[in-house]
Amino acid sequence: LPRVSVRDALVSQEPGENVKVQGWVRSVRSQKEVLFLHINDGSSLEHLQIVADPTLHGSNLTFGCSVEVQGVLVKSPYKKQNVELKADRIEVIGHCDSKTFPFKYKERYPLEYTRQYPHFRCRTNALGSILRVRSEATDAIHSFFKANGYIHIHTPVITSNDCEGAGELFQVEPSSNMKKLGKNFFDVPAFLTVSAQLHLEVMSGAFTHVFTFGPTFRAENSQSRRHLAEFYMVEAEISFVENLQDIMQVMETLFKTTTETVLSNCSEDVELLHKFVAPGQKDKLEQMLKNKFLIISYTEAIDILKKGSQNFTFTPKWGLDLQTEHEKYLVKYCGNIPVFVINYPFDLKPFYMRDNEDEPQHTVAAVDLLVPGVGELFGGSLREERFHLLQQRLARLGLTDAYEWYLDLRRFGSVPHGGFGMGFERYLQCILGVDNIKDVIPFPRLMPTPSFAQTYP
Ligand code: 4AD
Ligand code: MG
Repeated sequence: LPRVSVRDALVSQEPGENVKVQGWVRSVRSQKEVLFLHINDGSSLEHLQIVADPTLHGSNLTFGCSVEVQGVLVKSPYKKQNVELKADRIEVIGHCDSKTFPFKYKERYPLEYTRQYPHFRCRTNALGSILRVRSEATDAIHSFFKANGYIHIHTPVITSNDCEGAGELFQVEPSSNMKKLGKNFFDVPAFLTVSAQLHLEVMSGAFTHVFTFGPTFRAENSQSRRHLAEFYMVEAEISFVENLQDIMQVMETLFKTTTETVLSNCSEDVELLHKFVAPGQKDKLEQMLKNKFLIISYTEAIDILKKGSQNFTFTPKWGLDLQTEHEKYLVKYCGNIPVFVINYPFDLKPFYMRDNEDEPQHTVAAVDLLVPGVGELFGGSLREERFHLLQQRLARLGLTDAYEWYLDLRRFGSVPHGGFGMGFERYLQCILGVDNIKDVIPFPRLMPTPSFAQTYP
């Protein structure tokens, strides 16, 4: 018999077909004359209804067990679905003790509860939907870049550079049994990447438009609802740009195009999440898609914050970083439309950002995109492409030797260029309205966490 997925069975145009379906039982209802079974295999949010003779029902057919069902697809008499499976054989593949299984039939669990079971939460409707959207959004992002002529680059995970200069690094070393080899594996300290930007800058010097989309690591000592120690970042780097507008244009179309694709390809999943996890999110998202993103300068942002009647925990002041509470205030002030904040103080930002050479409020051509519900979603900038300015800055920071190769890029065929990074989990939080970042990644890594314990995946 041909095996079909639940998704394919549900859209089957050929009732009468004999098929085999495999999955996990989501409900068992036994009536006198007929047994109703709902099974799901992750291919869609919908369950496939199985109807069978109650004699096919064994006591081991419980919520959560895995089954293989053979039968014939028929047109369903019920309004809720198009097709159901009339079973002539039901085989339990793996038992599931409903007394000890952490999820029960018909219960709706808050995301916090499901988080306690990192090895089972993917079997809930909410996580199922989130992870299908995640998969679809991943594809949509790749398609966006491909359609716009970008080359996808696999950048290294192990690197010696601290791109952001924030010192939030995880150091990489061989395990102790490898150390008996007697020599250092790496001749300089090696770390897990905090950003692929510098490698992308190398590649944009040959391919003009490049992007990467991979795991990124930061030893953040933070238990916030928007930080992870391991997250996925979408990064793009573009040569021959003229100004920050060029970069912001790509950021905005990436956000909008990806979101439109997700909304049209995963409408059921998104609807479920907007309905049960984040009521009100649908309208908020429509606002974001419909309106042109706003642009304000850092200096204007500080003025707005200073005039704000709010009592902030951190007093806003020119020269200091924007805090989460400030970002929230600014987004609200802008009518809950995403807002680009540009031209940050020179002293606040990493060495690679392009000097605006303005006085007296010395700034760099940096841009952050702040979005409702999340705050900072993108960080980007023009890069300092002028050899002498970059050399002076690296010298002041004592980094000249480490970045000789980076200076080379400015010695040999330098071009004005720039790019950005978007936190992929924050993107999912923003469109789905998921409050905690731990719920939009399959296995969250942060400090300290039970997911590092040996009994957890
Ligand atoms: O603003 P960031 O630090 O920018 C960079 O790393 C640039 N080098 C990127 C580039 O220009 N190529 O990080 C970019 C984005 C942030 O705006 C945020 O969305 C996300 O990455 N991010 C995190 N997401 C989850 N957990 C963390 N600990 C994150 N740190 C940054
Ligand atoms: Mg940033």
